[in-house]
Amino acid sequence: MGRENAEQMIYVIQFLVFLIFVSSVESQLQQGFYDGTCSSAEETVRTAVHNAIQSNRGTGAGLIRMHFHDCFVNGCDGSVLIDSTSGNQAEKDAPANNPSLHGFEVIDTAKSALESKCPGVVSCADILAFAARDSVAVLGGPSWKVRSGRRDGRVSRSSDVASNIPAPTFSLQQLTQSFSSKGLSQDDMITLSGAHTVGVSHCSSFTDRLYNFNSTTPQDPSLDPNFANHLKAQCPNGTSNSSTVVNMDFLTPYLFDSTYYFNLRFGRGLLTSDHALLTDSNTATTVQTNSMNENMSWSLKFAVSMISLSEIQVLTGQQGEIRTNCHVIN
Ligand code: HEM
Ligand SMILES: *[C@@H]1O[C@H](CO)[C@@H](O)[C@H](O)[C@H]1NC(C)=O
Ligand SMILES: *[C@@H]1O[C@H](CO)[C@@H](O)[C@H](O)[C@H]1NC(C)=O
Ligand SMILES: *[C@@H]1O[C@H](CO)[C@@H](O)[C@H](O)[C@H]1NC(C)=O
Ligand SMILES: *[C@@H]1O[C@H](CO)[C@@H](O)[C@H](O)[C@H]1NC(C)=O
Repeated sequence: MGRENAEQMIYVIQFLVFLIFVSSVESQLQQGFYDGTCSSAEETVRTAVHNAIQSNRGTGAGLIRMHFHDCFVNGCDGSVLIDSTSGNQAEKDAPANNPSLHGFEVIDTAKSALESKCPGVVSCADILAFAARDSVAVLGGPSWKVRSGRRDGRVSRSSDVASNIPAPTFSLQQLTQSFSSKGLSQDDMITLSGAHTVGVSHCSSFTDRLYNFNSTTPQDPSLDPNFANHLKAQCPNGTSNSSTVVNMDFLTPYLFDSTYYFNLRFGRGLLTSDHALLTDSNTATTVQTNSMNENMSWSLKFAVSMISLSEIQVLTGQQGEIRTNCHVIN
């Protein structure tokens, strides 16, 4: 082989190595994934979220919970957005999601704006990850950079929901196990439960604590009795209107602050799973620390844990698809 041929050969090899490098990078999430293909992607979502919360303050909480429920069932792949069809009951129609999950129209608004600007480019899964981040920020919480490039899944089954979404009756051990099965630590679980500092719950998620604790004791003794009375007034035994909702944080229901943890310490956590964070001395100490949020310690941890949540089992590269309409697979 002559010297020029050898040099050419080296160039070819370098180019092949470069291609392998590019394709491996392409199959990972990255910040600013849409910079070259749809530079207004994040701004468009932010505007939609901002406008929606402006007209209905409760919408932000809906979007934060929607992202969590997307990520815990088959990864953050936008599968929670898919509608049921005659042959398939989708995730959004499972009892943990219907009728309580809301905010779908915000994702639709962002998606249709993006489809007219850059058709077929921005995934529904990424729009939801951006929208959850923006909701936290608009409600006064921390913000973070979302690494994007998620692809949309093509499977959404209602039967996958109950086994993956933790129940409000869970003990500390069950909660820890549920998060651990998604690669999240017990501390991530405690940190992310702080999202219950905003939003609402239907009576049915907690009335057992008021009327049906166990066979001998109607009311959960860990509830502050005054707080229990406040809840009973809103959710009467047996006659609660099934659409009635109660604020998860009775003090600052629209602020993304550390009051959730403060409430817990005084028996004013709404769900059994909220109170469960106090049932071990180590986790109770974490609740106490988070409640003070000194130097933003909880807020900063929340941002870090949300990044982990939002990257559970993502589809990237050529996997999945970019849905045209978030409600239906292409
Ligand atoms: C730790 C285990 C968790 C359990 C057992 C749980 C359970 C629940 C339940 C039962 C509700 C009320 C639903 C209703 O009746 O309307 C709720 C609401 C909510 N959850 Fe969780 N959750 C958990 C973790 C999380 C996480 C990790 C996030 C987000 C990071 C989150 C965000 C929310 C939000 C924002 C609401 C209010 C939704 C609204 O206002 O529509 N939750 N959760
Ligand atoms: C709540 O209602 C159920 C069913 O109607 C009844 O069995 C129970 O005694 C009531 N509990 C309280 C505390 O009123
Ligand atoms: C019901 O709960 C109370 C308060 O925690 C407890 O003292 C009692 O032993 C429990 N009873 C049953 C039957 O589990
Ligand atoms: C339940 O509450 C909803 C919304 O507040 C109201 O439209 C509906 O009429 C109520 N239903 C009953 C049976 O009171
Ligand atoms: C908070 O920040 C101050 C000033 O930097 C520092 O002295 C203090 O130790 C910090 N507190 C905690 C709990 O880290």
